[in-house]
Amino acid sequence: MIGLRGRTVVLTGASGGIGAALVAGLVDAGATVLAVGRDPVKLNTMVHRHRPGAVVPVTADLGTPEGRAAVVARAASMSPSLLVIAHAQGAFGLFEEQSDADIARLLQTNLVAPMLLIRALLPWLQKQPEAAVVAVGSTFGALAFPGFAAYSASKFGLRGLIEALGREYAEGPVRFQYLSPRATRTAFNTAAVDALNAELKTAQDEPADVAQQLIACIRRGDRRRQLGWPEKFFARLNGAFPALIDRALRAQLPTVRRHARAASPAPTGETA
Ligand SMILES: NC(=O)c1ccc[n+]([C@@H]2O[C@H](COP(=O)([O-])OP(=O)(O)OC[C@H]3O[C@@H](n4cnc5c(N)ncnc54)[C@H](OP(=O)(O)O)[C@@H]3O)[C@@H](O)[C@H]2O)c1
Repeated sequence: MIGLRGRTVVLTGASGGIGAALVAGLVDAGATVLAVGRDPVKLNTMVHRHRPGAVVPVTADLGTPEGRAAVVARAASMSPSLLVIAHAQGAFGLFEEQSDADIARLLQTNLVAPMLLIRALLPWLQKQPEAAVVAVGSTFGALAFPGFAAYSASKFGLRGLIEALGREYAEGPVRFQYLSPRATRTAFNTAAVDALNAELKTAQDEPADVAQQLIACIRRGDRRRQLGWPEKFFARLNGAFPALIDRALRAQLPTVRRHARAASPAPTGETA
């Protein structure tokens, strides 16, 4: 078991549903958390909820070079040994109804920002005897879902990134872990996604339970883990026999389209 007491953890998405629960779990385990988010009010509330000094807030938009630089500058003085990437942007809607700008922003936030942040923090992580980079993925990073094309692409990319880095740095002190929650009850899911999940009878976990499972995975050093059953099974089935999943999702397509149309903004003629 890998200990968390006395460690400095850089956690992105700290102000989110899963992120806030991760902050609580990591602080309980004795870690100091550099809590990254865009909303200073949410972050400061979190600082006061935990023991003094345990949560260090960093307000930063990770989609910008300035935001990433602010995180690296703060982390550099604190000897971080764990980077947990738990921020992301969601996007439910029909592919052709999403704007070029929205798709580019989503990939910048969910994939390019983690890649650049990992690169920037690696020199500090490599100084620690036992360090890890943990990316919070998604079931849709193993089983691409209609209505979530850009989001699925970003999570497949994140999974590929972490797997490649795990292999490239296999001889070093930094472990790379890709851990995927299934649907979780947070503000990440819009009303349209909640309605789709309800109609498809998709189970939703509570963020505190997800955080507890993620922390257990971090402690065990799991390289990859899909949380939840039957999601674990379907993710594997998609890898081995994707045509079976194609067929199952084809049957659900009218339902996905109906909810995705409800999620789409009224057409404005804007294409970028
Ligand atoms: N909820 C689910 O159903 C579900 C399922 C599977 C996987 N996941 C994954 O779990 C992770 C956490 O999701 P969640 O449900 O906790 O989402 P959430 O409640 O919506 O929180 C998202 C977090 O990401 C931050 N964020 C978004 N864009 C950012 C940017 N450009 N720069 C800096 N921070 C940014 C938000 O900061 P602000 O507060 O400043 O906006 C917030 O802290 C994500 O990676 C998500 O893909 C979620």
